[in-house]
Amino acid sequence: MTTWTPDIALKRGPRYIAIAEAISDAVATGDLAPGERMPTHRDLATRLGVTVGTVTRAYAEAIRRDLITGEVGRGTFVRATPMNFTPLSTRQDDAQPDVFDFAVNLPAQGIAADRLRDTLPRMAAEANPDTLVGYPADSDLEIARRSLASFAEYLGAPFAPERLIVNNGAQNGMLAALLTLCRAGDTVLCDELTYPGMKNLARLLGVRLHGLAMDGHGMTVEALEHAILHHAPRAVYIVPNFQNPTGTIWPRDRREALARLATRHGIWIIEDDVFGFLAEDSERLTPLAALAPERTIYLNSAAKCMGPGLRVGYMIGPTELLPALSAGIRLSTMTPAPLTLQVAVRWIEDGTARDSCRWHRAEARARRNLALQALDGYNVYGDAGSYHLWLTLPEPWRSDEFTRSARHRGIIVSASDHFVLGRRAAPPAVRLGLGGSKSRARIEEGLTRLADMLRAGPVTTFSSIF
Ligand SMILES: Cc1ncc(COP(=O)(O)O)c(C=O)c1O
Repeated sequence: MTTWTPDIALKRGPRYIAIAEAISDAVATGDLAPGERMPTHRDLATRLGVTVGTVTRAYAEAIRRDLITGEVGRGTFVRATPMNFTPLSTRQDDAQPDVFDFAVNLPAQGIAADRLRDTLPRMAAEANPDTLVGYPADSDLEIARRSLASFAEYLGAPFAPERLIVNNGAQNGMLAALLTLCRAGDTVLCDELTYPGMKNLARLLGVRLHGLAMDGHGMTVEALEHAILHHAPRAVYIVPNFQNPTGTIWPRDRREALARLATRHGIWIIEDDVFGFLAEDSERLTPLAALAPERTIYLNSAAKCMGPGLRVGYMIGPTELLPALSAGIRLSTMTPAPLTLQVAVRWIEDGTARDSCRWHRAEARARRNLALQALDGYNVYGDAGSYHLWLTLPEPWRSDEFTRSARHRGIIVSASDHFVLGRRAAPPAVRLGLGGSKSRARIEEGLTRLADMLRAGPVTTFSSIF
C-alpha cells in the first residue's frame, strides 16, 4: 500500500475536493501508479489531519471522476487504465509567456472556476440527471426566468419575469431581436464604432447598419435626430454601459432623449447591457428598458459577470414582441442548455453571481488604473469599471501599422477597422482588452512595453511608388 501523502495546503475549496484534486494530479504525474493500492481512509485522514469522513467523501469524488476504484473487502486502487482525455485549454493569455493578448474582450478569470469545483459535484448529487441532459421543461424555464429576473433587478433592470426570455447569450438575443424587428434592407442605427458581433449579424441578415457620429461619451443626440429624419430606421442598437469598443458610459440625458425619440417616431431600441454590472450600484444609470419599456428589447447575459462559456443569457421585451422573440430563440438554438442554466441559477440563488460581480468590479478598476499609469500621457477612453479601453494613437501611428508592429513585439491589440462600418476610414486607435491577461502584473508589463513602442514611433520608411 502506498504511503502517498499529498500536500493540500495550497488547494482552495472544500478539503474533500482538494484531496480528490490531489489524487487527480498524482495520477496524471504518475506519483500514483495504475493499480496501486490507496491508503486506508483512516491512515490518510491521520496523515492529513482531516476527518475520516472527509477522506471517504474525497475517495467517493475520485471514484466518480474515474481516478480510483473501490473493491469491497479489498480496498481502494488507482484505476488500472485511467481515463485519458486532454483538458480543454482556455483563451487566457498564459499559454505563451512572451505574448501579451490585449485583443480578446474577456472578463478576467474570476471566482467562477473555483466555485464550479463545488457547484458541479453538488449538482450531480442533488439534481435529477435527466433534467441536465434533456430539453428543459417549461417548469424549469419558469424557475430560471424568475431567478434571472431577480438578478436583472439587482443590476437595475426590474421587470416582471413574464417579460423575460431565457436564451444562449446576448449574441443569441441580438439575432432574435433583429429577426423580430427587421427585414433585409431595413436600417438600424448604431455607434460609428460598434461591436463586431452586431456587424456580422447585420451582414448575414442583409440589415443596413448606419453609424452615428460619437463624441467622448458615445453617439450624439444631434446625429441621432438627423438619422431618424433622413434614414427611416427600424431600430437603434446601443451598448449604453462601457460601450464596445470605447468603454464609455452613455449619459443620462442622452438616454432620455433616445427614449423620447423612439416613442415619438415608433422606433425600436435594442439595448445591449452585457457590461452594465461593472458600474458600481450607486452609479448605475437607468436602462433604456425602464425609460421606454414598450419600445426596448433589453439584452444581458452571464458572459461577462459569471463566465462566457456558460452561454446563458436573457432578454426582456415589450409584451407585443415576446412571441416573435421566443420564436427567434427557438429557431436559432432550440432551448438554453439546461446544465449551464442550472449552474447560473444556482449561482444567482447562492450569492455566487453577486460575489462574482463585485469581484469583477474591483478587478476591472484595478486593471484600468494600472493601464492608465502605464499609458500615462496618451489619449485613453474608457470609464472607471471598463475592462476594455480605447487608445487613440499619437501621430504618426496608424491603427493597422501599430497593430502589426505590436504583434511583432508579442503584444496583440485590436485594430480600429474591426469596429468601423462599411468603407469608412479606420481612425488611428486600437482597443485594449484588459480581462484576457492572467494577472495584473502581465497588464503592467505588456502595456509598459506598448507605451515604449508608442514613444519610439514607427520605423521610418520611404515610399518607392511614383
Ligand atoms: C457588446 C457585446 N454584446 C454582446 C456580446 C456577446 O455576449 P454573449 O457572450 O452573452 O453572447 C459581447 C461579447 O464580447 C459584447 O462585447
